[in-house]
Amino acid sequence: MTAKLIKGTDIREEILEEIAAEVKEIKDKKGVVPGLVTILVGEDPASMSYVTLKIKTADRLGFKEIQENQPTTISEADLLALIDKYNKDDSIHGILVQLPLPDHIDDKKILNAIDPDKDVDGFHPVNVGRLMIGGSEVKFAPCTPAGIQEMIVRAGVETSGAEVVVVGRSNIVGKPIANMMVQKGPGANATVTIVHTRTKDLASHCKRADILIVAAGVPGLVKPEWIKPGACVIDVGVNRVGEKVSEKTGKNVAILRGDVDFDAAKEIAGSITPVPGGVGPMTITMLMKNTLSSMKYKLGMM
Ligand code: GUN
Repeated sequence: MTAKLIKGTDIREEILEEIAAEVKEIKDKKGVVPGLVTILVGEDPASMSYVTLKIKTADRLGFKEIQENQPTTISEADLLALIDKYNKDDSIHGILVQLPLPDHIDDKKILNAIDPDKDVDGFHPVNVGRLMIGGSEVKFAPCTPAGIQEMIVRAGVETSGAEVVVVGRSNIVGKPIANMMVQKGPGANATVTIVHTRTKDLASHCKRADILIVAAGVPGLVKPEWIKPGACVIDVGVNRVGEKVSEKTGKNVAILRGDVDFDAAKEIAGSITPVPGGVGPMTITMLMKNTLSSMKYKLGMM
């Protein structure tokens, strides 16, 4: 059997078209566009490329976009002052501080300083709490888990009553996606297990999964024999395992590998996300959706 490919690149285009149409409609009616500020500290190449893509996407959708590039030497106090400035700026609906931050800055302090109503990453404890409560309490679901849920729903995979196994317990992916899938509501109502580095028998849990979500950061961790035939496999891993010369640009680019042994897994799974081109493109897409939602909350449209 060859699994159906769940392509983030295709789903992204569907969602971005929906967002662009809504942005245009609101702009025409009310003269307002979503405003997003991205704050990048330092010059980490991966962070720079993520932020560049966020800016490009925001521009394409007709958002107001402000990029704040700050040197690695910026003090915590100056970074807090910058956040305060955008907390008070009525034209800005979303504030994103790209992680990781340099060691001399306490990232908890920074994330907690963002106005929860502009926290489009969904990392502020207020939004984490709202997500835990679920239903109409949720304002901003974190972008990667929101993207995963959207992919599962748009691929037509049944979640109600499904056994979902999440590999990994990070605050950015594992814990929030597990919490989202267990809630009452569409795209959820699942029975959820979280497994992690201290779990006794990873394979036996994974084998039970109708939907297997892997966010461990270990290339090729999940072996084909861990997959239940016909399962939906969502691979969140983006592991840089080497470099190659791009045929298109002639430049060196990273070789990316997921947490799942894709070539073997696709012969067993019912549906599967590739790496790259799977979950990755969904994260930025959901950031745009959260920023649009933030503006709609402010306008009383949600
Ligand atoms: N660094 C890696 N992923 C993310 C993300 O989703 N949001 C932010 N702010 N930083 C990140």
